[in-house]
Amino acid sequence: MRKPFIAGNWKMNLTHIEATAFIQDFHYDFKNKNNCEICICPPFIALRGIKNIIDADKINVKIGAQNMHWEKSGAFTGEISPEMLKALKIDYVIIGHSERRQYFAETNETVNKKVRAAFANDLLPIMCVGEDLKTREAGNAEDFVLGQITECLEGLEEKLAADLTVAYEPIWAIGTGRTATSEDANTMCSAIRKKIAGLYSFATAESVRIQYGGSVKPSNITELMSMPDIDGALVGGASINVGDFLAIINY
Ligand code: PGA
Repeated sequence: MRKPFIAGNWKMNLTHIEATAFIQDFHYDFKNKNNCEICICPPFIALRGIKNIIDADKINVKIGAQNMHWEKSGAFTGEISPEMLKALKIDYVIIGHSERRQYFAETNETVNKKVRAAFANDLLPIMCVGEDLKTREAGNAEDFVLGQITECLEGLEEKLAADLTVAYEPIWAIGTGRTATSEDANTMCSAIRKKIAGLYSFATAESVRIQYGGSVKPSNITELMSMPDIDGALVGGASINVGDFLAIINY
């Protein structure tokens, strides 16, 4: 059985001071009735502060970064390396979010390098894929997303792939209030799982967790989580509101 996995992607929101207040408020009301795995992905500058509070107060929440470079170190001004995240004892790292692809020129090739670098540094990648509206309306969404899966996983060993999380996030549903229907989201997640079975094996595909992302909120999470191939959610906007994020966790 795959453990449900709810992750919050804060994007470029909250100062380190606001992040501290968030985790304290969150801890105060924290319940986890579905026994989900939970991960919070704040901006880099809040990782250490949140990690210290989580560890000190033994809050059962994982922590993730929103991006990283694939190289160990070097002349890459402004970048953060996998080794730096490993030293912070971060659990997860979001790789290839559509905003990174759209605004920072990330490609399937760079996503592939980052996914492999994450595993090589004991970080678990949450690898994002998803089509834009034009692709969906042209009826090419599945081919497009499965192509992303193939290219982003190239050369990744099967024993590592089993620990992968994929986030299927249709770009037209991100931050728009427009969610994919749970049936459409499940159809894509199921196609992704079949693709992974083809690339590796049925057993590996069954262990990979596939999240849906795109305007997830307290009012739609229960239906999304009732779908057989949706194992969790990558939550953007609603993850920086303590009440909404807790309501999503306790769907
Ligand atoms: P949203 O973002 O929940 O605000 O739509 C999701 C995401 O980009 O991960």
